[in-house]
Amino acid sequence: MDSYKIQQHKFDVVVVGAGGSGLRATFGLAEKGLSTACISKVFPTRSHTVAAQGGIASALGNMGEDDWRFHFYDTIKGSDWLADQDAVEYMCREAIPAVIELEHYGVPFSRTEDGKIYQRPFGGMTTHYGKGTAQRTCAAADRTGHAMLHTLYQQALKHQAQFFVEYFALDLVFDSEGACRGVLAWDLNEGALHLFRGHAVVLATGGYGRTYFSCTSAHTCTGDGGGMVLRAGLPLQDMEFVQFHPTGVYGAGCLITEGVRGEGGYLTNGKGERFMERYAPSAKDLASRDVVSRAMTIEIREGRGIGEHKDHMHLNLMHLGSEVIRERLPGIAETARIFAGVDVSKDPIPVLPTAHYNMGGIPTNFHGEVVQRKGDDNDAVVPGLFAIGEAACVSVHGANRLGSNSLLDLVVFGRAAANRCAELIRPHTPHPDLPASVLDTALARFDGLRHAKGSTPTAKLRLDMQRTMQRDAAVFRTGQTLREGCANIDKVYAGFGDVQVSDRSLVWNSDLVETLELANLLGQAVATMHSAEQRTESRGAHAREDFPDRDDANWQKHTLSWVNDAGETRFDYRPVHMYTMSKDVDVVPPKKRVY
Ligand code: FUM
Repeated sequence: MDSYKIQQHKFDVVVVGAGGSGLRATFGLAEKGLSTACISKVFPTRSHTVAAQGGIASALGNMGEDDWRFHFYDTIKGSDWLADQDAVEYMCREAIPAVIELEHYGVPFSRTEDGKIYQRPFGGMTTHYGKGTAQRTCAAADRTGHAMLHTLYQQALKHQAQFFVEYFALDLVFDSEGACRGVLAWDLNEGALHLFRGHAVVLATGGYGRTYFSCTSAHTCTGDGGGMVLRAGLPLQDMEFVQFHPTGVYGAGCLITEGVRGEGGYLTNGKGERFMERYAPSAKDLASRDVVSRAMTIEIREGRGIGEHKDHMHLNLMHLGSEVIRERLPGIAETARIFAGVDVSKDPIPVLPTAHYNMGGIPTNFHGEVVQRKGDDNDAVVPGLFAIGEAACVSVHGANRLGSNSLLDLVVFGRAAANRCAELIRPHTPHPDLPASVLDTALARFDGLRHAKGSTPTAKLRLDMQRTMQRDAAVFRTGQTLREGCANIDKVYAGFGDVQVSDRSLVWNSDLVETLELANLLGQAVATMHSAEQRTESRGAHAREDFPDRDDANWQKHTLSWVNDAGETRFDYRPVHMYTMSKDVDVVPPKKRVY
């Protein structure tokens, strides 16, 4: 093995990832006087949050009656009763100050005539516990994530957080008691390895959307935090729940915001029918995403698709008029022109359900602390380790996330993690010594991959993984497709032992970066497929044709999945929190979920 010189840094807290949640945590920590490093493999404003379009949910009531309790109810129902109700209460109540805070920081929200933050309808968002339609999604045109990300980055710079940009996080560092004490990272520009010591490490590394062939996620969404957590011998939670967004551009996968349907756009099939009326008579095109994606898939399967292969649907917004498109949806007009060759004022956009969001991830409580099941303790905290944003599973989204609850999750739990660290850590506390051998395993793994002399290129293994996930862990699943999926994904995982890395350089070695990313993706692909095979019911985004009903008696519980180095899985389960934090809101008991 080559010898590596390691540069050491000491901070109170180290944040990995500079998207919405990472930046919110970073400046929250710095604001509290904690010395804070934020390491990111891309420049902060290029993080995937920049691609979020439609908006951020908050019951401000600017456009009609609303209440955070309605938001709470909708989120529980949207989750198909898998979300932890105390965490949802926290998120929906905090949504109101969180958005006002963003406005004060400078997010350029669109405005109503009287100067308030503009809010649009989104899927599954109602008033009076399902009776009316809420306009709850606060929008900056259709570039809300972009606006938020730039504002949050400016705040982080203002509070003097220290950024380490184009650093790739390799592995977490733990002491002998199991407390997380830092992270080993590779500086892609200079080629050096760095040990970032922290009394806490906050993983804000985003989702693992790139396990799929067609997804709305950026190429950087490779679940690096989840990969590190699996390698640390810790479990991931609810990995079987992968959201398909109904309106990805056919063939290209890029997102066309649900805000289009919020503004009055609608879907049609090959016969020109507004088919959603049959599947969700009340909410129609604004039913929750799992419902709409399943309806589209059924239409296509039953021969009512569009085009030569009858394999997509149309999203119509021609009737909205040029003013609404120019003011509220300028970004998607551009996306449709570039990626579908469509002028949205004249023609519909060809769309298809596309992998969009991971409800599962690193299990945490609503302070962002990573939890695990230890003996009888279902929520034992892993000292020093936090996870937030799409990397985490709090769980506020359960089996299906409502659109615009994602940007909300980022800021609410980014802030919560910063507050929790400030409670636990005194600024500038000295760092305990670690044994000299603490980096041995991580360094051996890095060196092994750098010198991997197999015969299968990374790109081939990645394509095999993506095709398997797309085919076998899709909108609809059966025992047979999942069993085949498990066998196929296990084979790809085993094939990684023969991976070939031809570039040994330590500077800007994209071959090695992609191989490290693939390793992270593969563990999560295995966890997703096997967790899905285990769960013999249909709930939210997990739709089993052989088990079409939700089975609360046996399955209202969170899946914990471990994947070891050999790719073997192990499962355990945690109860769903069917309680609230306060008396201000009642638990929503499970019932049939119709829209
Ligand atoms: O459709 C959208 O604008 C996506 C929003 C979200 O996933 O929250």
